[in-house]
Amino acid sequence: MRYSYAAFALLTVAACRTVEPPPPPAPPIGRSPAAPTPVAATPTPTAAPSASPPASPSPAPEAVNFEASVKPLLARTCTPCHVPGGRMYERMPFDRPEVVFAHKDGVLRRLKNPDDRQLLERWLAQAKS
Ligand code: HEC
Repeated sequence: MRYSYAAFALLTVAACRTVEPPPPPAPPIGRSPAAPTPVAATPTPTAAPSASPPASPSPAPEAVNFEASVKPLLARTCTPCHVPGGRMYERMPFDRPEVVFAHKDGVLRRLKNPDDRQLLERWLAQAKS
């Protein structure tokens, strides 16, 4: 019995030795713990080389103004996706002439109303020059 007691005592001593709590990690002072990393979601559509038409006071009666004619047309027909708040607005904001111009074929293909298509075609012809 004496043997086992000694062994127990030894174990206890050994156990006591290991009880040495590590110092708690000091919290970082003066630094905000969770600095919000800015999400790199800047919608930068690749601008077409010759984007918006120069605002030249053209005497031609058929001059189509993007802001006044094309933008409301696309806002009406392509809502709710390509308008502000829509799921495609980040990638394809159709309230910007250079974006519409860069996707002119796809836009024309989707315009079902011939009058709408004609209006866009007229604007594109202007924007090209
Ligand atoms: C219901 C939502 C929705 C509506 C409404 C919508 N789109 Fe889109 N559009 C999308 C999505 C999603 C994509 C990307 C996936 C794809 O290419 O189909 C896209 C892609 C496109 C593209 C690029 C791909 C291609 O085929 O050239 C064009 C151009 C486009 N849309 C034009 C239009 C036009 C013009 C209208 C309105 C007449 C319109 N969209 C209405 C959701 C929509």
